[in-house]
Amino acid sequence: MRYNVIKDAQKIIDNSTYLVKDPQSYKNRWASLFGNNNPICLELGMGRGSFIIEMARLHPNVNYVGLELDKSQTATAVKMVGNKKINNLKMICGDAKDIINFFGKEIDTIYLTFSEPWPKKQDEKKRFTHESYLKLYDRIFRKNKHIILKTDNKILFSSALESLSKYWYVFDKVSLDLHNDERNIENVLTDFEKQYFKEHRKIYYLDASFKN
Ligand SMILES: C[S@@+](CC[C@H](N)C(=O)[O-])C[C@H]1O[C@@H](n2cnc3c(N)ncnc32)[C@H](O)[C@@H]1O
Repeated sequence: MRYNVIKDAQKIIDNSTYLVKDPQSYKNRWASLFGNNNPICLELGMGRGSFIIEMARLHPNVNYVGLELDKSQTATAVKMVGNKKINNLKMICGDAKDIINFFGKEIDTIYLTFSEPWPKKQDEKKRFTHESYLKLYDRIFRKNKHIILKTDNKILFSSALESLSKYWYVFDKVSLDLHNDERNIENVLTDFEKQYFKEHRKIYYLDASFKN
């Protein structure tokens, strides 16, 4: 899928009420920002934001934060929300590496949706399921740990299964073909996934948790 570069991305981001411009200052205060104590779910690498926007719309009693590194993608996500009033949705334009600066122990679920697979051995530390990231997640999960991952990439999926199990996560659901799974797993398509769906590409899925 092509990434569009948006010239005035910074301006669009700056003018959005959904964008949390200084996420560091809300560390341990996201409940007050949302105005409730509902669970908070975080998507890392939300891209154009279709998934997180739709999840927020479907589940008004859950709070959602979409984080994206790229300014043009973030601006597209912000434009996608438009004038809709979704009180349980916030976005951050920032790097997943910095999540411990943005959140205290206040996240209930992390969504990893079609994250960059970094297939080469020398890049495996960059995968969002590498142990170094799992250690960061430990510092922002409220109590129990809960990760939901979707990918079309076999290498990423296999390494996710391996690193999560080494880290004592338990797999509540695993699917090697999410779109044709007989269990009818609840699924909101991301932007990348919409394209893969048309191409009948197999989507790997896991729902893993560690209960303290
Ligand atoms: C393949 S796209 C998937 C986008 C979206 N989740 C979807 O499924 O349509 C991966 C996204 O992750 C973002 N990304 C990559 N590394 C990141 C990082 N370190 N922090 C935040 N976002 C990142 C990219 O900019 C890109 O938008």
